[in-house]
Amino acid sequence: MSGEGDQPQAIRKLQPGKLVIASHNPGKVREIAALLEGHGLDVVSAKELDLPEPEETGTTFVMNAELKARAAADLSGLPALADDSGLCVEALGGDPGIFSARWAGESKDFGLAMQLVNDKVAAIEDASRDAHFVCALALAWPDGHVEWFEGRVDGTLVWPPRGDKGFGYDPMFLPNGRDETFGEMDQDEKHRISHRADAFNQLVAAVF
Ligand code: IMP
Repeated sequence: MSGEGDQPQAIRKLQPGKLVIASHNPGKVREIAALLEGHGLDVVSAKELDLPEPEETGTTFVMNAELKARAAADLSGLPALADDSGLCVEALGGDPGIFSARWAGESKDFGLAMQLVNDKVAAIEDASRDAHFVCALALAWPDGHVEWFEGRVDGTLVWPPRGDKGFGYDPMFLPNGRDETFGEMDQDEKHRISHRADAFNQLVAAVF
């Protein structure tokens, strides 16, 4: 807790130069590189540097993002950015949460994962269908300094799923105030309002 008179800690700025994206997923690396364009960064992925993927042993999105970013910064000697995201369903106490990818099983079948979410909610009497997506970002430096940002978008779960434009749980997620699920929405529109956009907007405003 901050005591009276404490100064808030200044957020460390990210200087132009090399930045490691701590992900082995080329789609995610491309998307993150695009979101960071125009800030003089030379983006390189953990895969290109042949860095190992650490096990996600954290109990929160922020912890998992931090352990991935720290591992990449320690091993590369460069600043590193990692994310962790997922769907949290209020009636399920926040599940699948950090286990969102794992609920889809080895075959990464999100049809099954969405069915599982819906079945569990439907089994609860008068259950709320409120849900939100979270995206945590961690930016780590080789000296151990870390900055975190957490973005969120709130909505409702629909059934059956609608649309085939997104990925993961998008077809069953209707963002508040909208008529289209993330699965039906143009991706540019989704990227304006998503949890990922929220987290990146915070990061860009803070570190550049
Ligand atoms: P990770 O952040 O790469 O570990 O992925 C977490 C999982 O959360 C993904 O596999 C998706 O199932 C889910 N998820 C995260 N963001 C989204 C989104 O924008 N739409 C749909 N599903 C998402």
